[in-house]
Amino acid sequence: MKVLSVTSEIYPLIKTGGLADVAGALPPALGRLGIAVRTLVPGYPSVIARVTDGEVLHSFPALLGAPARLIGARIAGLDLIVLDAPELFERSGGPYADASGRDHPDNWRRFAALSRAGAEIAAGLLPDFVPDIVHAHDWQAALTPAYLRYFGIGVPSIVTVHNLAFQGQFPAAIFGALELPGEAYSLDGVEYYGGVGFLKAGLQCAWAITTVSPTYAAEIRTPSFGMGLDGLIEHRGAAVHGIVNGIDTEVWDPATDGLLAANFGARNLKGRQANRRAVETAFALDRDDAPIFVMVSRLTWQKGADLLLAVVDELVAAGGKLAVLGTGDSALESAFLAASAHHRGRIGASIAYDERLAHLVQGGGDAILIPSRFEPCGLTQLCGLRYGCVPVVARTGGLADTVVDANTAALNAGVATGIQFPPSTAEGLRDGLRRCLALFASPKQWATMQRQGMKADVSWDRSAALYAELFASLISDRGPTA
Ligand code: ADP
Ligand code: GLC
Repeated sequence: MKVLSVTSEIYPLIKTGGLADVAGALPPALGRLGIAVRTLVPGYPSVIARVTDGEVLHSFPALLGAPARLIGARIAGLDLIVLDAPELFERSGGPYADASGRDHPDNWRRFAALSRAGAEIAAGLLPDFVPDIVHAHDWQAALTPAYLRYFGIGVPSIVTVHNLAFQGQFPAAIFGALELPGEAYSLDGVEYYGGVGFLKAGLQCAWAITTVSPTYAAEIRTPSFGMGLDGLIEHRGAAVHGIVNGIDTEVWDPATDGLLAANFGARNLKGRQANRRAVETAFALDRDDAPIFVMVSRLTWQKGADLLLAVVDELVAAGGKLAVLGTGDSALESAFLAASAHHRGRIGASIAYDERLAHLVQGGGDAILIPSRFEPCGLTQLCGLRYGCVPVVARTGGLADTVVDANTAALNAGVATGIQFPPSTAEGLRDGLRRCLALFASPKQWATMQRQGMKADVSWDRSAALYAELFASLISDRGPTA
C-alpha cells in the first residue's frame, strides 16, 4: 500500500508543535507494517537546506500562480516530496508567520498550493508514485480532499484534525484564485460562514476524518468543543475516528537520550538524580529534595498556562518547585518571568523553544503539569510517562485517554500512571497538585507509579495498526460515507 501524507510541518525539519512529531513518527511506524509513506512538505528554508541530493520529479510553470517544483529527497529517514516554490515558502520566520510573529497574508495561497500539489500527485502526476490513499493533516493540507473531489479523482482521502481551533478561515474573495469549479463554493463544499474554510472543506470532502484521541473525537461533536464545526462533524459521524497519537520511542528513550545529563531506566530510577540537579541548575532552582514540577508547552489559553499562574503561590507554599519551558502569549511569558523573580530559587522560567531542555525537564522533573482546557491528544504527557516524570493532567481529550488516574482502586491494583483532575480550572489544578504532593510524600508509592508509567506503551505501534486498518477499509470502499 502506498500513502501520500500531506503536512505543513515534519520533525526534525520544521516544527511548531505536536503535528510535526506525528508527521515525522507515523510514516516509519507504518513502514514497519509494510506501508510505504511519502510525505509532501513545503520547501521552507530549513527543509531546502537539507535537500542535498534531491531529484526534480516535476516542474509546474505556475502552481496557483507560483512557479514550483517537486523534489524527491530522503532526509532523516523520511521519504519526502518537497514542494520547492520560493515565491511561497522561501521566507524567514516560522512556517506560518514572519519573524515578528505576524501571519503571512497569503497563507491561503501557500497552503492551497500545497494541497493542490497533493491532489495532482494523487491523480498520477508522478508515474513512480501513485498513492492508494491521501492523508492530509490539519487545515493547511485540508483542501487536498476538496481538489480530489471537484477534479473527480477517486483516490480515498483522510483528513486528520490535530486541533480544531485552527481552521484556516479566509474571505470569500480568495475563492477564484483557488482554481476550483464554481460549484465548490457551496454549503457542502468550501463555503463557510460567507468565506472559505479550509478545514471545513476537508471535513466535508474527505472520505474519512480522524482526530488524535477517542475522547477528543467525541468532544468535538459537542458545541463546547466543536468550535462551530460540531454540527458538520456530528453529521459525518460514521466517518469520524479517534486514534490516539504515539511518540517516537527512539527519539524519546531515557536509556539512550543524548540530551540528558544521565541516562536511566525503570530499574534504575536513581539515574534521574543527575537530571534533577541539571534542571535545578538550568532553571536557577534551589538544590534540595523538594518535588520539581515542570511545564513544557506553548504558553496559551488552550494549555491553561494562566491556570498554573493562578496556583503558583500555593505550589511554592506547599514546598514545590516549578520549571517552566515555553513560548507563547507575551502576557503569559511575562507573568512566568515575574513569578520566577518573585519566588527566586523556587520557580524558574525559560521563555524559549529548546529541544535539549524539553528532554532534560522530562528526565529530571518529578511531575509534568498539563492543565489544558482542551487537548486533542497532547504528547508531553506521553514523554513524561516514558521518562518517569509523572503527568498531572486535566481530564480532557487525549489526556483523559493516556493517563491512568491514581484513584484508590488504581493505586491498589498498581496500575496508576499519573493524576487526572476535572475540571480544567484553577480549583481543579489545585486539587490535582494536592493529590500529587500527597503521593510524592510516599516514595514507594511514587516510584511504583513512575515505573508503571514507564511501562505504558506510548509507541506508535498500536495506533499505526489502526491507521493501516482504516486505510485498507477505505481502499475497499466505494466513496465517502455520510
Ligand atoms: P501542541 O502541538 O498543542 O503544542 P503537543 O503536546 O502535542 O502540543 O506537542 C508539543 C510538542 O512540542 C512536544 O514535542 C513538546 O516537547 C514540544 N514543545 C513544546 N514547547 C516546547 C519548547 N518550549 N521547547 C521545546 N519543545 C517544546
Ligand atoms: C495539536 C494538539 C495536540 C496534539 C498535536 C498532535 O497541536 O494541540 O493536542 O497532540 O496536535 O496531534
